[in-house]
Amino acid sequence: MCGIVGYIGYEQAAPFLLSGLERLEYRGYDSAGICLNDGGELVVKKSKGKLVELKALTQNGTNIHGTVGIGHTRWATHGEPSDVNAHPHLSDSCRFAVVHNGIIENYLQLKEYLISKGVKFRSQTDTEVIAQLIEYYYQGDLVDTIIKVLSKLDGSYALGVISKDAPDEIIAVRKESPLIIGLGENENYIASDVPAILSKTRRIYRLQNNEIAILKRDSIKIINTDKEEIAKTVETVEWDLDAAEKGGYEHFMFKEIMEQPKAIRQTVARHIKNGRVVLDEIRLTPEQLKSYNKINILACGSAYHVGVVAKYVFEKTLRIPVEADLASEFRYRDPIVDDKTLTIVISQSGETADTKEAMKEAQRRGSHVIAIVNVVGSAIAEESDDVIYTLAGPEIAVATTKAYSTQLAVIYLMALHFGEMLGTIGKAEYDNYITELEALPDKISQILESEEKIQYLASKLFNSRDVFFIGRNIDYALSLEGSLKLKEISYIHSEAYAAGELKHGTISLIEDGTLVIALATHEALIAKTVSNIEEVRTRGAYVLCLACEDHQEIKNVAQSTIFIPKTCDMMLPSLAVVPLQLFAYYVASLKGCDIDKPRNLAKSVTVE
Ligand code: G6P
Repeated sequence: MCGIVGYIGYEQAAPFLLSGLERLEYRGYDSAGICLNDGGELVVKKSKGKLVELKALTQNGTNIHGTVGIGHTRWATHGEPSDVNAHPHLSDSCRFAVVHNGIIENYLQLKEYLISKGVKFRSQTDTEVIAQLIEYYYQGDLVDTIIKVLSKLDGSYALGVISKDAPDEIIAVRKESPLIIGLGENENYIASDVPAILSKTRRIYRLQNNEIAILKRDSIKIINTDKEEIAKTVETVEWDLDAAEKGGYEHFMFKEIMEQPKAIRQTVARHIKNGRVVLDEIRLTPEQLKSYNKINILACGSAYHVGVVAKYVFEKTLRIPVEADLASEFRYRDPIVDDKTLTIVISQSGETADTKEAMKEAQRRGSHVIAIVNVVGSAIAEESDDVIYTLAGPEIAVATTKAYSTQLAVIYLMALHFGEMLGTIGKAEYDNYITELEALPDKISQILESEEKIQYLASKLFNSRDVFFIGRNIDYALSLEGSLKLKEISYIHSEAYAAGELKHGTISLIEDGTLVIALATHEALIAKTVSNIEEVRTRGAYVLCLACEDHQEIKNVAQSTIFIPKTCDMMLPSLAVVPLQLFAYYVASLKGCDIDKPRNLAKSVTVE
């Protein structure tokens, strides 16, 4: 969602601010703006729409001057997307400028109070309240004022503040929303996310809640709200700039699909030593593990779909009941969770508001939380009891691919780890799982090599109006993700259905030419799925079936087929998802959609 970048140094700030904002575009936004201190005046340029608009307005950053500045991409929450609601926001007399990620929950009361004192507002945003409060309370010391203002705010925020009166300073604050400080030579930076500053530095501080950073050109001081200085450790970001760039590919999504073998290999290799899974991150004793009578999985979007796969995997290998829950539902339904429930939270960004709050709800009820997260140091990673990182590297395309795949890999690692601790997986079975897990990257590469076939199928089918994905068992779990991938980037209506459930409703929607994508990788249930394929074919459906390569007979029941290599049942989704990602990608490409930034979607959903 919203993105923040800031610069203080000796160069012109605007070109860097614009390029930093460009690297945050993937988060999703609908307006953008920058503010620079130009010789003691705060000059703001902002515009509704994509960054190209802001670039045109600023002539690529050449008609706005200053060596200190802040920038923002906004995803509208309070107030429509518009020039006036875009950040940065100025105080009434243009003395202070603020960029903000997060939500100020009590902004209406604060706004009413300020209006009663004669303050004039320009926008409908919650953020403007912060700029106005700073001016209202200002008595000559910006840091003191900001500390006072923070005490008035309820909600979440990452803030960048500049002032006319302190032209050589940026103040940055964080509560709940992420913010990092980049360390340069004679220049320093702020950003909501690492890619924004990777072109300049890999040395960062991560601000923690209620920390305030005072950035000057050659120094950074971090204090708490009692003005006590905090000693921070410099962290070196492992991601390099190449990882956050397209590297010759037309879209990040395609690049990230292609990166899956490497991402899975890294994630698996980190946790297998001498043929055994090592998950030191999980600090549960066998006794604790045995005391659980339920596993509870909380996530949103594709991460939730990983949770649905995990339900099948864990129940089969651990014989513990598993509930996979949408975080946004779990939070508000008085869930039955206690210290006998193990909670697993899955999130690429580690910032998804609903997932984070659901995690806290589970913790409040006494449950131990293990988080599977991609972004190091994110809120969920920090606040969970144990964290396992997926080593997917930065994922830029809004539609997740490599993060989903690495999350699945962690689920298999956990199944083996817990299965060994509980004694529910025999030795031969365990060894076979390890072999299959280590073989996944090569098998995925094999699928990627035959992507022309998927491109061809997409060219035949991209005009479909409705698509139904069907499957049983783990194929059903996968159909959820296949369907989501297609609809989110190609805007084709699609639904995922448990194949056995079709005849209880959905089959009435099948008519001549309706595309049904049947997933039939799960060997034990192939015959059942074939019956469901027959049912839809006799009603006119066009069936594209995905099966394992040793089931060539599927060619006789479906009009088109895609074959994948064989692996053990529980790891089939890792292979089968790849053709589905490619299919969605090519369909969206043929339809001319904005693949990396689909309409209305955001990568990191930091509002409820
Ligand atoms: C957004 C993204 C999805 C993602 C979901 C959960 O909706 O577009 O791709 O699966 O958020 O995000 P998380 O960062 O928690 O995995």
